[in-house]
Amino acid sequence: MEFIRSLPAVAAEHRRKTGRPFVTLSYAQSLDGCITGRPGVGLALSGRRSLVLTHQLRARHDAILVGIGTVFSDDPRLNVRLVDGKNPRPIVVDSRLRIPLNAKLLTENRRKLWVVTGENPDHDTRKAIESSGARIISIPSNSRCLLRLDLMLEKLGELGINSIMVEGGSRIITNFLMDHLANSLVLTMAPVILNGLKGVQDLGATLPENYLRLSHCNFKRLGEDIILWGDLT
Ligand SMILES: NC(=O)c1ccc[n+]([C@@H]2O[C@H](COP(=O)([O-])OP(=O)(O)OC[C@H]3O[C@@H](n4cnc5c(N)ncnc54)[C@H](OP(=O)(O)O)[C@@H]3O)[C@@H](O)[C@H]2O)c1
Repeated sequence: MEFIRSLPAVAAEHRRKTGRPFVTLSYAQSLDGCITGRPGVGLALSGRRSLVLTHQLRARHDAILVGIGTVFSDDPRLNVRLVDGKNPRPIVVDSRLRIPLNAKLLTENRRKLWVVTGENPDHDTRKAIESSGARIISIPSNSRCLLRLDLMLEKLGELGINSIMVEGGSRIITNFLMDHLANSLVLTMAPVILNGLKGVQDLGATLPENYLRLSHCNFKRLGEDIILWGDLT
């Protein structure tokens, strides 16, 4: 797909202009918009061909990000295994440094993990995580006690990250959308109805003019899944 090939150049230009990395929101959902059947429990939704595409996308991004909720439920590695290509820098958003020291992101990913957390993290917990090779990045929280994702992007831009693939979970997806921080969306739709955890929670947009829309929307069938992609800003 052309947008995957052109992504590094588009992202470099985006960071040059804005100082922030280009953000691709990419996750798999059911026909009824759920990313898992039961909250807190991981579920493999994508078929094999969509998974290969996900790994191609990972290999074209400088970094890949999930929330700590996803670490607890899926214990992901977030590396590139199904195609040839470089592993993106793994990043976890974890305001209270709850990441378990035996998480695969700390033990099984060759790229060292960056943990984005709040200001003044607990000294001993910080040292324990750093001793496994991870880097701690502190940013302020907002009035909802969530980390300021806009400031995180500025910091990651300063650290040389041109592009980030955001894989979830639900709270992370919702807050990237709510704060208008995602530049593009790549959605895998699996032919199943789950009645489980919605990928997108309340965005507070009640007026039609405030609804988020995709532009330059495209789709493609891969095996049983449909891949839908487009621009969010
Ligand atoms: N289908 C898919 O493609 C896919 C992909 C990924 C995950 N998932 C599923 O998603 C579920 C996990 O979703 P989740 O909503 O529970 O967890 P999540 O979005 O992975 O992580 C949310 C946590 O991140 C921390 N956080 C800090 N600042 C934040 C901010 N500004 N915005 C959002 N989160 C922030 C909060 O914990 P602290 O307050 O402790 O920092 C928050 O509870 C799992 O069941 C997983 O299997 C599905």
